Amino acid sequence: MKRGKKAALIIIPLVICLAAAGAYIYYTGTIGYKLAKLGYTKDQAGSITAIFSEEEQQVLLASPATPEIIDIASDPRYQKANFKDYLSGLQEGKTAETLLTDYDPRVVKLRAEKGYLEQNLAAYLSKKDSVPDMADQDVVRLVNTTLVYEKTEGYDPALYDKYEAYRLKQVQKTEGADPDVIDEALCAAVVKHVNTALPYSSEKYYIDAYLDRYEAYRAANPDKALTDVVAEVNAGIDKPFYTDIEHADMSKGYLVLVNKYYYVEDSDKPQTTALSGYGVGELESTAAEAFKQMVEAARAEGLSLRAVSPYRTWAIQNLFYTGYARNAGTAEADTYSARPGHSEHQTGLAVDINVASISAHFENTAEYAWLQNNCWKYGFILRYLPDKQYLTGYVYEPWHYRYVGTEYAKDIMDSGITFEEWYAFYVANPDK
Ligand code: DAL
Ligand code: ZN
Repeated sequence: MKRGKKAALIIIPLVICLAAAGAYIYYTGTIGYKLAKLGYTKDQAGSITAIFSEEEQQVLLASPATPEIIDIASDPRYQKANFKDYLSGLQEGKTAETLLTDYDPRVVKLRAEKGYLEQNLAAYLSKKDSVPDMADQDVVRLVNTTLVYEKTEGYDPALYDKYEAYRLKQVQKTEGADPDVIDEALCAAVVKHVNTALPYSSEKYYIDAYLDRYEAYRAANPDKALTDVVAEVNAGIDKPFYTDIEHADMSKGYLVLVNKYYYVEDSDKPQTTALSGYGVGELESTAAEAFKQMVEAARAEGLSLRAVSPYRTWAIQNLFYTGYARNAGTAEADTYSARPGHSEHQTGLAVDINVASISAHFENTAEYAWLQNNCWKYGFILRYLPDKQYLTGYVYEPWHYRYVGTEYAKDIMDSGITFEEWYAFYVANPDK
């Protein structure tokens, strides 16, 4: 054998061995080797390495947390951009679940929402899954409130929107209160209120702020229909007449309410104009002008209207009332005469036309029929309606007209309700 051949026999296997050894040494330094050592199959290792960049694979090689980060990266919530954050989180001892949650963009967005509560996170996410279009802000509010409402006795999920509308209204009324801070006591009160209000939902003149009064009145009058409960409380008769009297709210102008609960004083006297040629006395100037026009219009149709009792001072009303009371007793007098201070004649906005007497039956005259059809055109309403004595405190007065202005007179006449009820709902309604 030649020397050269002999050398080749030694060198070639040696090179092969060295190459193999080199390749092996190289291989043991790859991620593939590390994954194989960790028990992953070749296929698994293939898909795992595909997730990570070259640079990340180098980091993984040196990292003791490799299996954990592989678990994290296999989760659909894994965020490639946060690779290093997951690793440092693992090194700080955080769990894979915590880290997946922390870098889940859905969670990041939710956590930035006002009112976010960590303990409700799972519920937010499941709500987002079931209603994907709902804004995060609404998800947080909905879940936070629902979870509190659900702890409240009587809670009906179908009424959620009603509960929330009422709760927000209460929050708005409380200075410094935050609608995103869900107060358990308030939620309980809200559920109770809304549930109690439910039977009233078809009552046209229902005033939510009066619910407690309706309920108290209903308890005292268990056989009364809800419509009557609402009408009577709105008219104020859940308190006996002349109880807790207050000064009339003059700021309401031509819509001021004067009755057995609201009084005026002589100092409330408006600017008046004499009705000369149209009857006795005077009326508030605008009402006087309207009255004259009304009289002229009736006259053009051959009908005669005349003011027989318009503006009265406190002293005059006192004279009237005490005279009636002396003759008939206060109980009787109270059904047709206001106590001094409580007559709307004292506002200069009320006028008795032609004949102020029950026995004269003004309601059977052509003048009355004309007034029924036309008084509202001039801003007047019939004030003391038939069959409403229990609400107004006064018998039917077909002769007594009240100026309220042309804007609302027709509505009031058409409504068929007393001015007390109309005023409660449309003028003084605390809900509006
Ligand atoms: N007759 C009405 C009620 C009044 O005295 O004012
Ligand atoms: Zn009158």
